[in-house]
Amino acid sequence: MYKISPFFLMAKTIIHISDLHFGTENLTFVQTLLKEINQYKPDLVIVSGDFTQRARKKQFKAASEFLNKIPYAKIVIPGNHDVAFFNLFYRIFNPLRRFKKHIHPDLYPCFKNSEIAVLGVDSTASHKWKSGHLSKTQIEIIKNKLSSIDNKLFKILAMHHNILPSPGSKIKKSIENYSHFIRAVDQCGLDLILSGHLHKSYCGNTQEHYQTHDAILVIQAGTAVSRRRRGEANSYNLITINGNKIGIQVRGIEKNRFLLLNDYSFQKTNSRRVLNSDF
Ligand SMILES: [Fe+2]
Ligand SMILES: [Fe+2]
Repeated sequence: MYKISPFFLMAKTIIHISDLHFGTENLTFVQTLLKEINQYKPDLVIVSGDFTQRARKKQFKAASEFLNKIPYAKIVIPGNHDVAFFNLFYRIFNPLRRFKKHIHPDLYPCFKNSEIAVLGVDSTASHKWKSGHLSKTQIEIIKNKLSSIDNKLFKILAMHHNILPSPGSKIKKSIENYSHFIRAVDQCGLDLILSGHLHKSYCGNTQEHYQTHDAILVIQAGTAVSRRRRGEANSYNLITINGNKIGIQVRGIEKNRFLLLNDYSFQKTNSRRVLNSDF
């Protein structure tokens, strides 16, 4: 059994998983992950895209069955691998048809409770394949939605593509118009951005790469169960939010259990919403 500290008992618990890539999944890891998620009884599970490997019906059905076994609130958003791949007609005119049918119809999913508010965003672009894109209209909608949420809540944005490069890597941000997006969400009271896509797990904040007023915390997830790894173990993020404090455990899989790989903690200051690791 897991030992749950008093901090956990008071906090809101979020499980952040990403890049499941059904079609390339490790079946043992899928079962281990389900057991792990359900033992924590999280307030929310966030899945930040790439449910499938090639957006095939069979792969979406497997992803849907996986989600149905998690009886907790969920925020789900598509990744570039969930865009229609083989059918050119759908790729052009209805690229997320299967995602909307099998996973979730809403491309701006929201979740709110007494402490946190989460907005999901579709950052895929069918004409780009790998990299992401947010249109001017999308950016305006995101800005308005974030601004309308009470600043007392811990505001989280979830999207598939990364806005910070992986440390020590030449891979850049994956959103083409990232600077426009970052300028728009700066000073909206946004505290945290959750992403995936690179299959690399790391933390950072927007001030490390952009000239922003707010230091918005950014947490990247590795791939939870796919064999498409990038030199890292399969992992997910266990996030706990308690007032101004946020704790992140990166938990990696080994055989049939998850182990702690990394542990981060941050605290939000009141004046400029700067997150630091002082506690
Ligand atoms: Fe992926
Ligand atoms: Fe991706």
